[in-house]
Amino acid sequence: MNSKYKLILEIIVGILLLAGQFFCLVEGDLHYYDFVLKEKNFTRLCSTKSMLVVNGSFPGPVIHVHKGDTVFVNVHNKGYYGVTIHWHGVKQPRNPWADGPEYITQCPIEPGSNFTYEVIFTTEEGTLWWHAHSDWTRSSVHGAIVIYSPDETTYPYPKPDDEEILVLGSWYLGDVNKLVDEDLQTGADTPRSNSYVINGQPGDLLECSKDSTYRWVVDYGKTYLVRIVNAAMNAELFFAIANHNLTVVGMDGNYVKPINTDYVVISPGQTMNVLLTANQSLGHYYIAARQYDSARPDVTDYDQTNATAILMYSGNYTAPNHPVFPASLPTYEDFIAADMFLDRLRSLASEDYPVDVPLNVTTKMYITVEMNQILCPNETCEGINGNRLSSSLNNISFVNPSTDILMAYYRNLSAGVYTDDFPNWPPSMFNFTQEDLPFNTTVPIQGTKVKMLNYDEEVEITFQGTEVLNASENHPMHVHGHSFYVVGSGYGNFNNETDPKSYNLVDPLEVSTIGVPKNGWATIRFKANNPGVWFWHCHLDRHLSWGMNTVMIVKNGGTPETSIRPPPPYMPACNVPYLPWIEDFDDSSREDVY
Ligand code: C2O
Ligand code: CU
Repeated sequence: MNSKYKLILEIIVGILLLAGQFFCLVEGDLHYYDFVLKEKNFTRLCSTKSMLVVNGSFPGPVIHVHKGDTVFVNVHNKGYYGVTIHWHGVKQPRNPWADGPEYITQCPIEPGSNFTYEVIFTTEEGTLWWHAHSDWTRSSVHGAIVIYSPDETTYPYPKPDDEEILVLGSWYLGDVNKLVDEDLQTGADTPRSNSYVINGQPGDLLECSKDSTYRWVVDYGKTYLVRIVNAAMNAELFFAIANHNLTVVGMDGNYVKPINTDYVVISPGQTMNVLLTANQSLGHYYIAARQYDSARPDVTDYDQTNATAILMYSGNYTAPNHPVFPASLPTYEDFIAADMFLDRLRSLASEDYPVDVPLNVTTKMYITVEMNQILCPNETCEGINGNRLSSSLNNISFVNPSTDILMAYYRNLSAGVYTDDFPNWPPSMFNFTQEDLPFNTTVPIQGTKVKMLNYDEEVEITFQGTEVLNASENHPMHVHGHSFYVVGSGYGNFNNETDPKSYNLVDPLEVSTIGVPKNGWATIRFKANNPGVWFWHCHLDRHLSWGMNTVMIVKNGGTPETSIRPPPPYMPACNVPYLPWIEDFDDSSREDVY
């Protein structure tokens, strides 16, 4: 062949190869979003404060995708402090670089700079959400992610006429990060929210909130898909809509066996898809959320507000003076109502939406979930007994490193950043659920210990709730980069002979956050098939701040398709000294290259 033809042939082959790569990389659509983080004044509960929000809104903008799409979100930080964003529940295969938790997979996006996240959707379908993952910034920096089926028609239930998003959150009167910083310094308990909010509003029943109450107008006879996100900082919530039944059909981006109910309980971090048919007499009905408190019954100074929105029927009718309040909304400490609801949740496990529960477990862990104290000299701190409040997993209270674990792992530079000795068991076995446990159980070890897992290992973790410091409560444990099956749960100490006999391996719930029952246990299983560095933590932010966290590193599987992708060209730099805010900064030079 003469060299000219050879060259042309090579070019054609090259183009075909490139095109092939393009088509297999890009199965879904690409979307581009700009998130501008900026302080803005908001008035709630009769008082005004400035807080950081995305694109001027609270809650922030909704991301809409179809299953399998990829989203590029360019986050411009025009605020006063460093922030990261996490795409909660999105698995991000091989792409921990865009997962977000500060000091775990990246350093903060400093004021005046920007960073583009590549968010890769694969198996998720339903509702997820995004939120800041630095300090307590997520209280104002969060929003919903809506994931439609690829053709927007195939759902395991009749296609609803319309849909609605309800984001449940927490409102604090002051500057949350400032208050939390002070408490973390003094060791005191972190601030309680001043009210819960629905789509950013406390609602009718709270002071100065009547006019701004969130209203949802429905048409009689229509069926709606309601996407509920619990973005509250520190509370599980009960939720109900007066006189209307709810059919739960999805959770955390997976389908569940439909259950009919007149209330739900939802953990922080979780999302729930429910169907509602507007079949009641034309009128106004309260949509209400209140805290489900599982801590000690004698401690009642938690946020007892009832956040409300109003479901209003369209049409001509005379509305009563007051909307109907949901009689079905359980009271704050109604653990029976909570358990009755949670017991019913199951995966859909149908032919079209099968389950894939690991059956050959290769790594088993038993992890205690504890409240602790760190001793202060001369009892000069403001937590229990003059000490500092803390919390731990397997008695290790997680300490954030000052540079991110992911880059340290990727570059083989773990020294001084983390150690790979997170244990499979607690340091000692005792009656975890007994009251008044001895002093030596209350003080944790502080460290940055991670758990290493081989690619494709089948992992089983039993989380054991404890009564250490007489401070048992439910802990919503959340994992990044994966979802898991909840194969069992119960009260008391886990019994490794009898309890596994009752495991559900047929249709266990698949989620990425599960409430470990107060003084009880929950066992989960998953396949470690996503190479990367993934955070595991309690989704009550005070416990997250106190160290109820660990990290699992899933090693590469030996082929390019089973290995972490190379980092994007511009990861935010660590240890950037404080940059004074420069108005009109030019970020064109930092545009990320895809
Ligand atoms: Cu909502 Cu670490 O996550
Ligand atoms: Cu917790």
